[in-house]
Amino acid sequence: MFNKRIKIKTLLAQDPESYREQEVTVMGWVRTFRNNQFIALNDGSTNTNLQVVAELGKFDESLLKRITTSASLKVTGAIVASLGKGQTMELKAASIEILGDSDAEVYPLQPKKHSLEFLREKAHLRFRTNTFASVFRTRHALAFAVHKFFNDKGFVYLHTPIVTASDAEGAGEMFRVTTLPFENTPRNEDGSVNFKEDFFGRSTNLTVSGQLEGELGATAFGEIYTFGPTFRAENSNTARHLAEFWMIEPEMAFYDLEDNANLAEEFIKYIIRYVLENNREDLDFLATRLAEEEKQLPQDKRSEMGLIEKLEFVINNEFQRLTYTEAIDILANSNHNKKKKFQYPITGWGMDLQSEHERYLVEKHFKKPVILTDYPAGIKSFYMRLNEDGKTVAAMDILAPGIGEIVGGSQREERLDVLLEKMKAMNIPMEEMWWYVDTRRFGTVPHAGFGLGFERMIQFVTGMSNIRDVIAFPRTPKSAEF
Ligand code: 4AD
Ligand code: MG
Repeated sequence: MFNKRIKIKTLLAQDPESYREQEVTVMGWVRTFRNNQFIALNDGSTNTNLQVVAELGKFDESLLKRITTSASLKVTGAIVASLGKGQTMELKAASIEILGDSDAEVYPLQPKKHSLEFLREKAHLRFRTNTFASVFRTRHALAFAVHKFFNDKGFVYLHTPIVTASDAEGAGEMFRVTTLPFENTPRNEDGSVNFKEDFFGRSTNLTVSGQLEGELGATAFGEIYTFGPTFRAENSNTARHLAEFWMIEPEMAFYDLEDNANLAEEFIKYIIRYVLENNREDLDFLATRLAEEEKQLPQDKRSEMGLIEKLEFVINNEFQRLTYTEAIDILANSNHNKKKKFQYPITGWGMDLQSEHERYLVEKHFKKPVILTDYPAGIKSFYMRLNEDGKTVAAMDILAPGIGEIVGGSQREERLDVLLEKMKAMNIPMEEMWWYVDTRRFGTVPHAGFGLGFERMIQFVTGMSNIRDVIAFPRTPKSAEF
């Protein structure tokens, strides 16, 4: 059997005494090789390297020459207590096998600090750095926590389609899916493209949200969630936007807006607590990294709290809840607005909030996560429930410090007549949506749901400032390498 190895993380967690005289095999990639004797070996299970000692004179010079950065090794030997600083044990190599050479002349990553921008260009190898290893192990832990949270509450995980014929958000920012040829494209008499000839016999696109299908699930199972990739063809080159991102969308029957906000707050706190308890080593590493990065910033740009402190603050304090109308008042009366420091001035009720406004509320005014509710109907999607006042909808956005909008959600319009009127007014085509409207025809119920942007959540937890550094292979305008 080839893979009879112990992972370095498992090994390091043990008392070195328990391995006395016992032979172990480890496999991994060389990080550094010092004095022709000390190999720092990493196998991806932890950032802590295992020190492998190749005793002088024991191994051929020709073998030692091949122990270069990122070469892969299989090492068998005995575990001994280490005298070295910062390590409890080391592996005294009895045999070293090179599984794969790595030409030091051309291997792009050196055992030194590289910038995140540089590593983005080498995204195929960046998992081999401590920062990205910690980010992606944390991403994994968060994903696991998402499933655990909903599973333990009895939600059904629904896999909604990637290819759809509808625009769930009504925003028109979709990637078209087609097999029609670019030349001699089949056309109707009026010159428009004849999608009847297309693969699905109609115009289709990549999904922007699984919500609409999620509502079909919620109105049968009671509570469902989705967790999958979603796509937006918005031309936003920011540190918070991806063209392909992952979204978690729970949808619950018999929930109103307050229930929805309660669930969202509980959920966010749960997954943060989960990683604090289960992924502490990586979070501590990322906290140190962030603190070092922030040392480069001017004093007023630095965070008031360290990463761990911030996460603990979030799980131990209630989110601030307020309405859009209250938020506009705060913003309009702020010194920031009066001194004309917003790029987009506060023009009054009805305006859409820009991210600078959201960040002001969260970072300057409340200094904690904020749940903003009851937005003007005109700036929100067609499916949101119209409030008694006839001008606001039961929407909610959750805003996080340093990130801005992290969750968007609402109570849904369950009243057939109100929904139909709204769809008509907002030009939502009935021929694409008849199945959605059917839920309001057959046993409609009050229901609500939200979408959490997974990468923005990971940014919040890891302290990574650019969203391209928390997804393995980012898809952004003009960029789809790897
Ligand atoms: O606010 P959004 O557009 O809401 C929806 O799609 C609803 N259908 C969700 C629901 O009620 N089930 O998107 C939800 C979240 C945002 O708050 C943000 O965190 C994230 O998805 N998001 C993005 N993340 C990265 N890149 C983008 N381009 C994103 N657009 C939205
Ligand atoms: Mg939104």
